[in-house]
Amino acid sequence: MIHVAADRRVFEFHGKNSFYTMCVDTEGRLLQIGHGGLAGRSPVCTSGYVYTEWLGNLMEVPAYGDLSQDEVVLKAEFSSVSDPVRDLRLRYVSHDTVTDAQPGFAPKHGQPVLITTPRQTLRIRLRDIEFDFFVTACYRWTPEHDIMERWLELENKTDQPVRIEQCFSGVLPVGHGQFELTALDGFWATESHLRREKLAFGTKILESRTINTSALHNPFFMVNRVSRAGYEHGDVWFGQLAYSGNWRLAFEARHDLFLRVFGGYNPYDFELILPPGGTHSTPAFIHGFSTEGWSGASRRLHAFQRERVLPRSPESAPQRPVLYNSWEATSFGVTEQNQLELARKAAAIGVELFVLDDGWFGNRTNERSSLGDWFVRKSAFPNGLKLLIDEVHGLGMQFGLWVEPEMVNPDSDLYRAHPDWVLHFPGRPRTEQRSQLILDFGRPEVVDYIWSILDRLLSEYPIDYFKWDMNRAASEPGSVEGKAVWMKHVAGVYGLMDRLRAKYPALSIESCSSGGARVDAGVLYRTEEVWTSDNTDALCRLAIQEGFNYAYCPRVMSCWVTHEKNDQTKRPATLALRFNVATRGTLGIGSSLNHLSDAELADYARYIAFYKTIRPLVQDGTCYRLLELEEHNSSVWQFVGEGGREAVLSIVIADHRTAQVMPPAKMKGLIADRLYKGTDDLGRVLYTATGAELMSCGVPVYAQQDHPCMLAIGYSRTIHFTAT
Ligand code: GLA
Repeated sequence: MIHVAADRRVFEFHGKNSFYTMCVDTEGRLLQIGHGGLAGRSPVCTSGYVYTEWLGNLMEVPAYGDLSQDEVVLKAEFSSVSDPVRDLRLRYVSHDTVTDAQPGFAPKHGQPVLITTPRQTLRIRLRDIEFDFFVTACYRWTPEHDIMERWLELENKTDQPVRIEQCFSGVLPVGHGQFELTALDGFWATESHLRREKLAFGTKILESRTINTSALHNPFFMVNRVSRAGYEHGDVWFGQLAYSGNWRLAFEARHDLFLRVFGGYNPYDFELILPPGGTHSTPAFIHGFSTEGWSGASRRLHAFQRERVLPRSPESAPQRPVLYNSWEATSFGVTEQNQLELARKAAAIGVELFVLDDGWFGNRTNERSSLGDWFVRKSAFPNGLKLLIDEVHGLGMQFGLWVEPEMVNPDSDLYRAHPDWVLHFPGRPRTEQRSQLILDFGRPEVVDYIWSILDRLLSEYPIDYFKWDMNRAASEPGSVEGKAVWMKHVAGVYGLMDRLRAKYPALSIESCSSGGARVDAGVLYRTEEVWTSDNTDALCRLAIQEGFNYAYCPRVMSCWVTHEKNDQTKRPATLALRFNVATRGTLGIGSSLNHLSDAELADYARYIAFYKTIRPLVQDGTCYRLLELEEHNSSVWQFVGEGGREAVLSIVIADHRTAQVMPPAKMKGLIADRLYKGTDDLGRVLYTATGAELMSCGVPVYAQQDHPCMLAIGYSRTIHFTAT
């Protein structure tokens, strides 16, 4: 609910467990009053509660002008007078509530999300005290998940350009106290590792400067008062950005221990020039509040993404298919023959989507050439892709293709024809990474060209799925668009994806960026899943996936089972461990099926069949992290379906100290008086207990049948509980 007490100009959002309140003061400034747990409190506007304790003079849209020392949301320069004025003072003009508002960079593909009931957006219009420069603060509210999406709409109605030097989408007032930050950091092959740290007095910054989302930090956070929240208890403020470009989250802990979180465009090398009459909408800063600790915050984000973010085209199946990707099997050595063989083996073990990865185009036999030349490599595929795709479809699978549309190798026909089409500064060096350069999406002709390539591929071939890769960070960001290219690049990528989805509604897209460097809510508006990491070592993946699960729902987390001896770490792992880790998200297979015995292939088939029985719970159920790696060196997750009649328990012992005793995993959301049977992939009944027993006494993390020495590194089980 959004309550507006128009007479006192107080605005309050009420969710399931939280509230957010603002007011307009006598000077017309929009101020933050409070945000936090509802605890039975009724709305301010109906109770007539009078605020005596202000959170301080905290502006909702602090601008450089009213305040010049603390962090600001907006910094603008007006040149409509002889000396440029860098002073912005925003005052209330009007407000309204609408149900069709959309943030900047919202998807334009027109495909529905799971829940389409309209949501209210409160729009509060502010104007500078002198110039006709308007800022509308927009707040879209999803009360059932206590989640707000906020953004700014800028409008220059002066007769001169306005230069914006800094522009966040908004600032979240958290409150007074000593806070702890939970963030996801990493690098290639170590993405989304969980990190907690105390926020000291001052400003802590998380950001990307890479032109994409980045693997170094993810645009996600949780904050809580130190020692006042944990895995399943306490108040947690959380948020993420719906943006795949240079972003920043700034955590400003002031001298009075008041914490605010600024989120939006990274001010680093930022510039937005609004011409007279120009408008701009920022991407959404999504934030929310949990009274059930970190796990409760994740559950809210998961549900929000599943219901309100992910595209669910009517043509797509309710669950994500089991995928096979040939990258780890054949690398750049793809041929029609070896892909046909792999496809037949994949279909036989139950795979539903076959993906041909890198190496199918131009003269691409290694990473040094041909990006940009998106024409089928005749020496490898003499029949084009038709024969392979027909065979894949004939085997009852979908067909997916790897592309990296934003890139070009200098050794390519595209680059030889258009050396100016890449990001560069004239006459200056062009730094290559992975032997490639980034196309300048500031040039409309470049975006049009890439559109024509992707459109041609999809109209020529019945391709069901693109793996959309992006394998380098920006270095010299020179563009015809100047500094605006940081933003234009994101707009170009989103625009292409939206156009493709609109024209080919049955198409699915996977977002990949050297593994998980483009994972954020903005790309999730137009992709069904993301590639979590190039690191498929089961124990490494356990940590990567646990961090990932803090911010993103299991349905989008693509997880592969690969070779017994892992390609990246050279460490062996049992098939059980590889499957039990990979079945925590959307399952994929990346092994060299040609090198597996019939017995091994039969084991793969059995695990895949088992995954299909638990898939609705994993992909669409509610996920609880019952025991976390951080605390127990082991990880137990539970997925439970609506109504609680079915659940999945996933147990992995990552490390083991002598005589370590694992606490039982107390399950959640079951029906207390029903009897449950817990079976494994072999159909063995490992547990029989009532819902009450499973929830109060819990499940020993290793089963009776297992010898205690099994409680060792890599011990793992996935158990499917059903009410009898
Ligand atoms: C990136 C991806 C991999 C694979 C290769 C192909 O590294 O993360 O999964 O697609 O590119 O070159």
